[in-house]
Amino acid sequence: MLPPIPRIPEARELIDEEKYFVIRGPRQSGKTTSLQALTAELRDEGEYAAVYISCESASTRAEEAAPAEVRILSEIAAMAQATGLPEECLPPEPWPAAPGATRLLRGLSAWARRCPRPIVLLMDEIDSIHGDELISVLRQLRQGYNSFPVPFPHSVALCGMRDVRDYKAASGGDPSRLVGPSPFNILAKSMRLADFTFEQVAELYGQHTDATGQEFTAHAIQRAFHASQGQPWLVNALAREIIREMRIPVSQSITDEHMHQAVERPDPVEDGLHQLDGYLDRLDLSHGTLIVFDRRPTAPHLLERTAIEQVTSPRGHAVTLVRA
Ligand SMILES: Nc1ncnc2c1ncn2[C@@H]1O[C@H](COP(=O)(O)OP(=O)(O)OP(=O)(O)O)[C@@H](O)[C@H]1O
Ligand SMILES: [Mg+2]
Repeated sequence: MLPPIPRIPEARELIDEEKYFVIRGPRQSGKTTSLQALTAELRDEGEYAAVYISCESASTRAEEAAPAEVRILSEIAAMAQATGLPEECLPPEPWPAAPGATRLLRGLSAWARRCPRPIVLLMDEIDSIHGDELISVLRQLRQGYNSFPVPFPHSVALCGMRDVRDYKAASGGDPSRLVGPSPFNILAKSMRLADFTFEQVAELYGQHTDATGQEFTAHAIQRAFHASQGQPWLVNALAREIIREMRIPVSQSITDEHMHQAVERPDPVEDGLHQLDGYLDRLDLSHGTLIVFDRRPTAPHLLERTAIEQVTSPRGHAVTLVRA
């Protein structure tokens, strides 16, 4: 694994500067890995009370239908416990009672009042909260942020696939619906996770070589980079295919030909539909589009291979499948 924290280089600085900010990146680009590593580092240093949550998780079945603010508070309480924050840094148990659309504000502020360390909240999967609920969550964060000197979390990171501007669209796309000051004003920065560079792909594969003695030839690495464009999950998947599925013995180098075979692996549509199902559920969408782009040198000409069909995914979503 490549060191995950340097992949979000400004995050630490923004946290030290008491900022609220956005980390965004496409699917499977390493958002969760980087965020969790940063949380662990902050926790080990002991200066902050750092808690990572996924906004997607509901702690109990009963809470699945509860408003986002309730699910978030519940997740914070569970994660603060599970990750071993010292007793005095834990959130109040139970959270203070408060009217709807103020629970997060009251809860976080009660926690900040009692917690001896500045609180850093890293909120992953922010895209799983939609429309008015998202606006309410952001509003409450904004209200708390602006309530100085009343205590509130020191720094908050919102992590997801979209840019802040798209969160505005999530409110219905009509800025006039946002009565009063925009809740997005508090977000100091939106940073994007980059794909791996060629050097990073070489470094990652080099870790396998260091561990096992098995080399990747320069051409194999070039092909992997070319075929994956540095997409983190794909870079790992290509190596996994060769090492685990093709089982090339460690006494042999991994060559361009091996990489070529890995790139030519069987039809990825089934895997793609399965993965898309998860995303559609998460984003509360009934249909989606899967584009499978055939980059293989042996593929037929674009005009011949391009086809569009309507399919149903394993979990029943309507999917437009584009092969190109
Ligand atoms: N630092 C890293 N070094 C090497 N590979 C990594 C690193 N971070 C992530 N990856 C690869 O990317 C994959 C996805 O990582 P992760 O789950 O953190 O991404 P994500 O952006 O949170 O995904 P999702 O959008 O599905 O939530 C991992 O399974 C791993 O293959
Ligand atoms: Mg993730």
